[in-house]
Amino acid sequence: MKKLLVVMLSIMMVLSFAACGSKKADDGAASSDGDATSTEKVKVGVSMPTKSLQRWNQDGANMKKSLEEAGYEVDLQYAGDNEIPLQVTQIEDMVAGECQVLVVAAIDGTQLGAPLAQAADAGIPVISYDRLIMNSDAVSYYATFDNTKVGEMQGQYIVDTLDLENQAGPFNIELFTGAPDDNNVNFFFGGAMSVLQPYLDSGKLVVKSGQTEQAQAATENWNTEKSQARMENLIASQGYGPSGTKLDAVLSSNDSVANGITNALVTAGYTADNFPILTGQDCDITSVKNMLNGEQSMSVFKDTRQLADQVVGMVKAIVDGEDPEVNDEDTYNNGTGKIPSYLCEPIVCTIDNYKELLIDSGYYTEDQLK
Ligand code: BGC
Repeated sequence: MKKLLVVMLSIMMVLSFAACGSKKADDGAASSDGDATSTEKVKVGVSMPTKSLQRWNQDGANMKKSLEEAGYEVDLQYAGDNEIPLQVTQIEDMVAGECQVLVVAAIDGTQLGAPLAQAADAGIPVISYDRLIMNSDAVSYYATFDNTKVGEMQGQYIVDTLDLENQAGPFNIELFTGAPDDNNVNFFFGGAMSVLQPYLDSGKLVVKSGQTEQAQAATENWNTEKSQARMENLIASQGYGPSGTKLDAVLSSNDSVANGITNALVTAGYTADNFPILTGQDCDITSVKNMLNGEQSMSVFKDTRQLADQVVGMVKAIVDGEDPEVNDEDTYNNGTGKIPSYLCEPIVCTIDNYKELLIDSGYYTEDQLK
């Protein structure tokens, strides 16, 4: 049904672009070869959640570059520092400003119903970017990484590093995840816990704080200061420390949360020699530097260039009235139905492969990591 709607919208768009094209040609304003293509006319709105985290700046820049290279005009907006009312206004402006496709990375996936209803009324297809927009039937497609796999990789890293298959334990672990209003968190935390839960059940892993529920492990806005404050509280309440109660591992769903945990652990006296296993995601520069210093164990690399390319492919297909490439039609239901999705592959990054993943691939220069 959704697909049918998008195909119909796309046909309407192609027809209207074709109409524009011939009008331009009549006006003598067509491109030099006289063949005004649809991509020359299409304006794409890209709404990003925040300027305050490295990953979204990269995503926005990659999207703008790739879309412009593909010949589109781009209206890229960042919603300050996760300001929901600002994101709502920016999307309304994109609809009013006649963007023909919207790409939206939501702050709170449940808060965009009203502006997206306006997009739907105006016949504008919406691609949900990285985070799924919930309870809106305006969402046509979803492009993201395999978020469950991200969590599984973090959980598996802890299992393998502690050698839980062979060791009796018990090992102490604390659990941190991200923003409660980010649908991805269900998949990151769910994926990680699917791997860790059997060891919690058998007693090989112990969460001394007892904070094992997703809501208890949440970090509002994925904020570094908030995760630092919670880790400091856990250190104080459980007596963790290099010469106190042993803390073997901390599950963190991403790097901004991990950075706060690292800050708290370093303040408590932990060094590279006795640092607990600490997971992350995004390969943010601060986290890669922490990994190189022995103050974070791993991150999950999600190549934002790949996601941007995939979304540009989706935009092109929609504009050309074709079916965008999807590889998962089952996993992501936004409350109005399953959203056809493309899931990019995440990769575990440690000090053993960061050079190949991050430097050889041109993602960072060596200088950026010094
Ligand atoms: C993204 C992560 C990111 C987090 C915080 C999630 O939705 O998938 O890559 O670390 O938001 O920005």
